[in-house]
Amino acid sequence: MPTDQPELLHLRADGVSVLLRLPTDRQAEILWWGTDLGPLGDAELSSVATASVGSVPNNSLDRPYRRGLLPERSQGYRGRPGLVGHRSGDAFAPLLRTAQLTADANTVVLTAVDERSGLQVVSTLQLDANGVLHLHHTLTNTGDTAFEVGELALIVPIPADATEIADFTGRWTAERMPQRLPLREGAWLRQNRRGRTGADAATLTMVGTESFRFRSGEVWAVHLGWSGDQSVWAESHPDGTRVLGAAELLEAGEIVLAPGEEYTTPELFAVHSAAGSDGIADRLHAMLRARAHHPTTPRPVVLNTWEAVYFDHDLARLQHLAEVAADLGVERFVLDDGWFGGRRNDLSSLGDWQVSTEAWPDGLGPIARHVQDLGMQFGLWFEPEMINEDSELYRAHPDWVLADPDRLPDTSRHQQVLDVARPEVSAYLFSCIDSLVKEYRIAFLKWDHNRDLVAARHHGRAGVHAQTTAVYGLIDHLKDANPGLEIESCSSGGSRVDLGILQRTDRVWASDCNDAVQRMQIQRGTAQLIPLELIGAHVGPPTAHTSHRTHDLSMRVAAALFGHFGIEWDIASATDADRAGLREAITLYRRLRPLLHSGSLVNVDHPDPAAMAVGVVSKDRRSAVFTYHQIAMGIREAPAPLVFPGLDPGLHYRISRLEVAGAAATVGRQPPPWWTADETVLPATVLGTLGLPLPVLHPEQAVLLELTAL
Ligand code: GLA
Repeated sequence: MPTDQPELLHLRADGVSVLLRLPTDRQAEILWWGTDLGPLGDAELSSVATASVGSVPNNSLDRPYRRGLLPERSQGYRGRPGLVGHRSGDAFAPLLRTAQLTADANTVVLTAVDERSGLQVVSTLQLDANGVLHLHHTLTNTGDTAFEVGELALIVPIPADATEIADFTGRWTAERMPQRLPLREGAWLRQNRRGRTGADAATLTMVGTESFRFRSGEVWAVHLGWSGDQSVWAESHPDGTRVLGAAELLEAGEIVLAPGEEYTTPELFAVHSAAGSDGIADRLHAMLRARAHHPTTPRPVVLNTWEAVYFDHDLARLQHLAEVAADLGVERFVLDDGWFGGRRNDLSSLGDWQVSTEAWPDGLGPIARHVQDLGMQFGLWFEPEMINEDSELYRAHPDWVLADPDRLPDTSRHQQVLDVARPEVSAYLFSCIDSLVKEYRIAFLKWDHNRDLVAARHHGRAGVHAQTTAVYGLIDHLKDANPGLEIESCSSGGSRVDLGILQRTDRVWASDCNDAVQRMQIQRGTAQLIPLELIGAHVGPPTAHTSHRTHDLSMRVAAALFGHFGIEWDIASATDADRAGLREAITLYRRLRPLLHSGSLVNVDHPDPAAMAVGVVSKDRRSAVFTYHQIAMGIREAPAPLVFPGLDPGLHYRISRLEVAGAAATVGRQPPPWWTADETVLPATVLGTLGLPLPVLHPEQAVLLELTAL
């Protein structure tokens, strides 16, 4: 480490500080990550450097405790170490020392070496303009024998007053359900061995001050941008260790570095907020919206054929569905599963990405052209990483499966996984998809992935890492070859929602559950990570296929508005009244989408567990839309007043009821007077505190309100 380097380096952005200690004889260490410490001059930094050195407790190592970027066993670290690996059993406890540093604006690149162990780690830290800390490491084997990597972790410190953990779990049709627990001594460890992100993924691991809520409390959160196996943890020990960590989960022997080879971790996104979990979402949404490839065109109204026709692919029926859709204002028509090979159900043909001559004797031209002539984009479903044993592809290439060919894992949805890291497999997939995209002017791919990977094996060793990077490469190649092509990440509904896949896709299918009550909760969890324009949300049929609950159209529309709006319903057989309601809903969505897809998400900390309320406030805070959902029959005789956080406290707002697709069903003797008044204008200070009384609603009813500053 050059001796003229300061002892501390201070990064600041948008209310966040990261303070790095740069000792000359050890690794660098994050001393502080959290609230902005304000400008600190050289003299102050030097005082902080001295003042932050801790004491030496009894019965411990005889020097103040230090934790580097990669906490080390060689330093007596008792938590989960940063770098686990070995060289034929040795080099198991590396001792890294920073050898080089480059700092450019808010990006710091640190090179740490351990010559004896033959290891070099280049760590890149960037505090972006939205206050999100990005961190990744590249490990190089500088020795002259092989080094096996067990784990290379991304670890950030959290302070002592972060005492509660909140993350997510779930299952098919109940993705990203929140859970919360106290952070005690020990580790809260979430591990994913599905080979895909999973419906039960932690998604975002948040720790916060006691009772932190959507809009209050201090929160620290991490997310690993990776779609393969991973571990994420919050850890606390009596020695003062308090960290959040995450790493790719590697199987034994999965990554063995030959001399000169390197391994790069996925990117960790570390987010701090002094304004509750909505503050975390705000920073992440701003970061994603600032990406060069973030979708900027108005998010088109989608019609997806899955719940409308399932495998019943009939040209006349689908052409008629397209006509009804176009007439209502639909802008993108997506033909789902069932168009290829011999696929008349989910038993066969994955891998045979040639148009079915039985279902589509004249190819997809007649439907694609019809859709395009009606002024809509044409989209198509694929499940590229999968293969059915009953397929032409499997019969020709049984060795293309990502498994030991003599020990195939059990099928799941009757399918196996293709070894995409084999160049001939990804070349085959590229050529099938690319030629169809070009032939039919396909604007949108729904890219599905409907099973977990089990004992994934590539070239005789564990293969999830190779598979994940190969799939990323395939998507990148298709995107490069087809400028403007949009891709949706779907995986048995919402089982692949992460910032690794979203680096190269344009939206996620949040869930196969279109039940409005359930969906609002799934979307709330999903929106903790990504903004509404990236979250597919469809109006389903009156009775939801996945829950068998029936909801009014107004409720289903209110849920689908808080996402990238679409329809998944056989609207050709819907009633005239429902079609008229959908037409109104589409008109409203088109009017509101500039606000919904650029504003700040506001989750109301509503006191009644039988209700949920959410809104979007425009960046200039002059307009907003809120929805209140009575999700169950609660114990309150009338709803608790609805408060509207996030408005400009200096402004007055006009409140308008948006009654689309029918009014919410109310009960009770009379609604509050403002409900029927000609005009209601109130100061933001009142709306954010007293709020507004609501009429007594039947359960599973929604109210939509628009707020406009005077
Ligand atoms: C998965 C998806 C659905 C649909 C089906 C088609 O389950 O989540 O939306 O595309 O596959 O088989």
